[in-house]
Amino acid sequence: MRSQVIKRAIPDVFKTQPGVSSDDAAADTGANGAVSVDRPEFRGPVSYGPLKLATRYLLSPLAGFTTLPFRRIVRNIGGVGLATTDLVNCRALLSQNDRTMQMIATHAEDQPFAVQIFGSDPKFVAAAAQFLEERGGVATIDINMGCPVNRIAGAGSGAGMMCDAAGTTSLVQKVVESVSLPVSVKMRLGWDDDNLTAPFFAKEFEQIGVCAIAIHGRTREQGFSGTVSRPGIRKVVEAVEKIPVVGNGDVRNVADAATMIRETGCHAVSIGRAALANPWIFRQLDEWERTGTYSPAGTFEERLQLMVQQYRFLAEQHPPKRAIILFRKMAHWYLKGMRIRRKLRGDFQFVKTPAEFEAALERIRREGPVGGNRSGVLSDCHIPVPSGPVDKW
Ligand SMILES: Cc1cc2nc3c(=O)[nH]c(=O)nc-3n(C[C@H](O)[C@H](O)[C@H](O)COP(=O)(O)O)c2cc1C
Repeated sequence: MRSQVIKRAIPDVFKTQPGVSSDDAAADTGANGAVSVDRPEFRGPVSYGPLKLATRYLLSPLAGFTTLPFRRIVRNIGGVGLATTDLVNCRALLSQNDRTMQMIATHAEDQPFAVQIFGSDPKFVAAAAQFLEERGGVATIDINMGCPVNRIAGAGSGAGMMCDAAGTTSLVQKVVESVSLPVSVKMRLGWDDDNLTAPFFAKEFEQIGVCAIAIHGRTREQGFSGTVSRPGIRKVVEAVEKIPVVGNGDVRNVADAATMIRETGCHAVSIGRAALANPWIFRQLDEWERTGTYSPAGTFEERLQLMVQQYRFLAEQHPPKRAIILFRKMAHWYLKGMRIRRKLRGDFQFVKTPAEFEAALERIRREGPVGGNRSGVLSDCHIPVPSGPVDKW
């Protein structure tokens, strides 16, 4: 249901943003292809309560995209400190319907992982958190306070929670008190420029035991338009004493992550859309933090292998034909970034059987990208976001 909501907001309104390049503009490339970017001062290792994260680079939830197969892909590549499910409706979770149970499915390769929940009734949100804790396998619970979609925000959950100081604080407190798992919150800067409530909530949440705050540096009114306010994120960092703040928004490459850390002082960075364009980004960030340089993203051939692997992961969860249908959406992304001839990309959207899937990939492998660059460096990759007036989403 949740991703239908998001899809309804997106459909043909997939609006392209300025090109996202996996090449860093502000970076120096060495002879072996390693790229060097100046490192900011990093904060100490990041922990969500007792949970120590292996890196400070997190996968930001993208409903419909950051599903278990994709999470396994980025985990296998490496460098991910924590990944989160798409937002899950608390009531749907408590009813344990198949679709929702699939959304919270995980795998040994997908650890540690967080489930992100949303709801406006403290009773249900707390009960959903308890359900997750009793079920096991979940490392942390994340409360969504950022979703701008009308049906969610308008009903008092998601970004709607940013308008109700007392109600929201008491809801979050009830969740924290109901479980022993660490509870984090992901929010926006506020409802609009006149209501930048994130620093207030961050401070309150730290007092009541929230383990971390992730902050997308836009208001609800902004939707995905404009740019992220790093000064706005900085105010959230300054509002808390100890808990980690995860800076989020518009980080497309290592140089952007460096800027985010340098200008906001955030402890960690989460990346959503750019991970679709470049699933190697977490490994690159981790390498860069340790060495000051990072290796290029996967080659054309490695991207094809990654597609096959992601399809296999999907087929572990679904019958093969259904897995193909589900995979087409991601394939569209990958192939677009890989600069495949439009006709081949279009053909891929009609494959129905595993044999046709293999044959289509083989044709793509033989023909290669337009322009012949098989290095895997993407010059341009468009990321879709909902557009139009946000109150119509
Ligand atoms: C298609 C789409 C789906 C999203 N779904 C979620 C979601 O389920 N939960 C959430 O907290 N944020 C969601 N977001 C917001 C992202 O997690 C992230 O905050 C935002 O895209 C900015 O980060 P980025 O520039 O790295 O993508 C979504 C964003 C997009 C574009």
